[in-house]
Order: sequence, then C-alpha cells, then structure tokens
Amino acid sequence: MSKPLTNQLPAEYQALTTILQARRSIRKFRPDPIDDETVRLLADAARFTPSAGNAQPWDLIMVRDPETKRKFGDIYIEQLRQKNRLEMTRAADIRFFGDEPPEPTAGFVDAGLLVVVIGDPRVIDAFPLRTKIDKGPQHIISSLANIVVTLHYAAASLGLASQYLSDTGSPEMEIMLADLLGFPDHLRAYETVCIGHADMKPSSRYVKEVEDIVHLEKYNMDLAKTDAEIRRHIIEKLRPNFKKVL
Ligand SMILES: Cc1cc2nc3c(=O)[nH]c(=O)nc-3n(C[C@H](O)[C@H](O)[C@H](O)COP(=O)(O)O)c2cc1C
Repeated sequence: MSKPLTNQLPAEYQALTTILQARRSIRKFRPDPIDDETVRLLADAARFTPSAGNAQPWDLIMVRDPETKRKFGDIYIEQLRQKNRLEMTRAADIRFFGDEPPEPTAGFVDAGLLVVVIGDPRVIDAFPLRTKIDKGPQHIISSLANIVVTLHYAAASLGLASQYLSDTGSPEMEIMLADLLGFPDHLRAYETVCIGHADMKPSSRYVKEVEDIVHLEKYNMDLAKTDAEIRRHIIEKLRPNFKKVL
C-alpha cells in the first residue's frame, strides 16, 4: 500500500494515532485519587460512543471508595483461583501462564477509579425485529465493548493509565458484584475499566503489521493460516511465558 506523506496528515489523524499508540494496559497503579472533574470528563466523552440502534445500553458505576475497591479485589482473587485451576487442564504449551499460575493479585484496587460498565439487555427492542432475532445480543455486546474502548482512550487522552478487567462479566463475579454494588438482576455486568496513575512502564507489545491484516479487494489466500500455524502463532507471539514451557 502506498504510504501517505507525513506532512499531509491531518492534525486530527495525528492526535488520534498518538492516543491509539500511547494507550497501553497498565496493571500497577499509584494509589492517587481521581477527582470529580475527571470522573465527569470520562463519562462526558464516553456518552458519545456509537451503539446499535443508538440504544446506548449502558450505565457506568464509578467506584472510588477504598473499602469497596478492596472488596472488589477480594471477589476478583477468589474467582481467579478457580479460573487458574481450569487453565492447568490445558496443554502446557498453550497454557496462558506457563508452568504454574502466578499467585492471584488484584493490583487494580490501587487505581483511583473503577468504572464498572453495566449493560441493559432489555433495549434489544430498539432494533428492527429481524436484527433483534439475528444478532440482538451481539449488538448489545458490541455496543458495550465500544463504550469500554472509549473509556480507555478518554483516560489516555487525560494522561491516565487504564486496565481491562473482563472477569467482571463471568457469572460468579457478576453475581458477587451485583451484591457489592447493588445493581438489579436484570442488568448485566459487562466489564470494568480501571483508571488511575501508572506505576509501571509497559514492555513492548506485539502489534500486527498493516500487511499482515489487509486484503485488497479480495481475500488474499497468501495470508491464510492453517490450524497448526494459528497454534504456533498463539504460542510464539501471544504467550508471554511460552519460553518457560517449550
Ligand atoms: C475484550 C478484552 C478483554 C481483556 N481482558 C483483560 C483482563 O481481564 N485483564 C487485563 O489485564 N487485560 C485485559 N485485556 C487487555 C489485553 O490483554 C491487552 O489489550 C492486550 O494484551 C494488548 O496490550 P495493550 O492493551 O497494552 O495494547 C483485555 C482486552 C480486551 C480487548
């Protein structure tokens, strides 16, 4: 693909790609508080997120109370023990953490703010009937995923670090969080975005090249991968601990 000339790039593209490249998953935070103004700015940016049928199926529970965050961390650690036991049943080379699970920790409780993204599946009726039947739940999930990503980039634009906490939506954790945070049964806990001040520098990450993912006009079979190639790709590129187990 021909590259655009750098000096012709719109300032908006440069600002956007700067944020896209700078945002990283940070898993260690300084315990500095997040003020009311920042909470408002994050929510104000996030509310413009696109959603299927403009249904906006979200609520954001903003958790800053240290005691609630501590309980949140305890719930997370408890479910992680079972998750790690399940992972140990997998073949060693593809196991997420290598030889043995690390001791579960919840570094995110130091983040000043936990944004728990709650979904309301009832707005599925905002979609045309066929859409509702075909892919209603998928549209709800995609919309919630969108607001999560907006929150991450909004945090990055304010110089803040963020982390995904997707175990939020696992059944056991969701029930425990409903009890802790008081949201009703008909709502779903989708994801938590932990936002705060970074206390670590992330190591470099693997990012696919443009040529790895772009197919011009038609699917390019040169880019197709066999099952064995996909497995090798997961082990070699995506498993941080793969060297320990090979
Ligand atoms: C759907 C989704 C779920 C994720 N779940 C978690 C999670 O539970 N805990 C975590 O620390 N990171 C989680 N991540 C972050 C990814 O591990 C991370 O984005 C990826 O490794 C790339 O690193 P980067 O965010 O620094 O670019 C999740 C990311 C996505 C998109």
